[in-house]
Amino acid sequence: MRKPLMIGNWKMNKTISEAVSIVKSMKNAVVDVTDVEILLCPAFTALYAVNNEVKGSNINVGAQNLFWESEGAFTGEISPAMVKDTGCSYVLIGHSERRQYFGETNETVNKKVKGALAIGLNPVVCIGETLKEREENVTFNVIEKQIKEGAKGLTPEQAVLTVIAYEPVWAIGTGKTATPEQAQKVHAFVRKIYANMYKEEVADKIRILYGGSVNPGNVSNLMEQPDIDGGLVGGASLESESFAKLIKYSK
Ligand code: PGA
Repeated sequence: MRKPLMIGNWKMNKTISEAVSIVKSMKNAVVDVTDVEILLCPAFTALYAVNNEVKGSNINVGAQNLFWESEGAFTGEISPAMVKDTGCSYVLIGHSERRQYFGETNETVNKKVKGALAIGLNPVVCIGETLKEREENVTFNVIEKQIKEGAKGLTPEQAVLTVIAYEPVWAIGTGKTATPEQAQKVHAFVRKIYANMYKEEVADKIRILYGGSVNPGNVSNLMEQPDIDGGLVGGASLESESFAKLIKYSK
């Protein structure tokens, strides 16, 4: 059985003190949750403080990005070991905002995935089509390319440590969610790709999350779908009340 995973992606929001203060109230709000894995992804600057604050709780912490090289002259970049050193166990890779504004490609995603795995961080690889691609009926081609190129060269053992987040670009921050059926279709397709690339066993274990305007009102319908194993949540994760509600979707 795949344990549901709910991720709060805070993007470029919150100073250290704001992050710590919201984590304090989140800890209390989700203290009784055992059936869902909870992950928060604050900005780099708050990672160490947030990791300290969640110690001993049921909340884990991840970074929003990293660079693949282990050290050296790469001004402004953060290595996998540096991320791990703050206490993180996960890292988001290839979020559509990074692909769109910072030139990330399937090739850089692949390098980052390998860099993360090499240090023992679980990568959360983001994939998804733009509105134009959906309208041109190339969604499945885009998804297949993103998966195959992003996971190139991974062993089956490494593949099962990866989490996939399907986020249609047109649904991110727009209030426009994919319908549960639209999302399920893509999720089932992603699982099939993994079954073909590796074997059923790997495909069965991989968690595939949906992202794009997930909120406390639409989360349970999405989670009812057989291949949706959790959510990658932006806006609705910025406040403890809405994120806790969302995490407790089955209650
Ligand atoms: P959103 O963001 O929930 O605000 O749409 C999701 C994401 O970009 O990960």
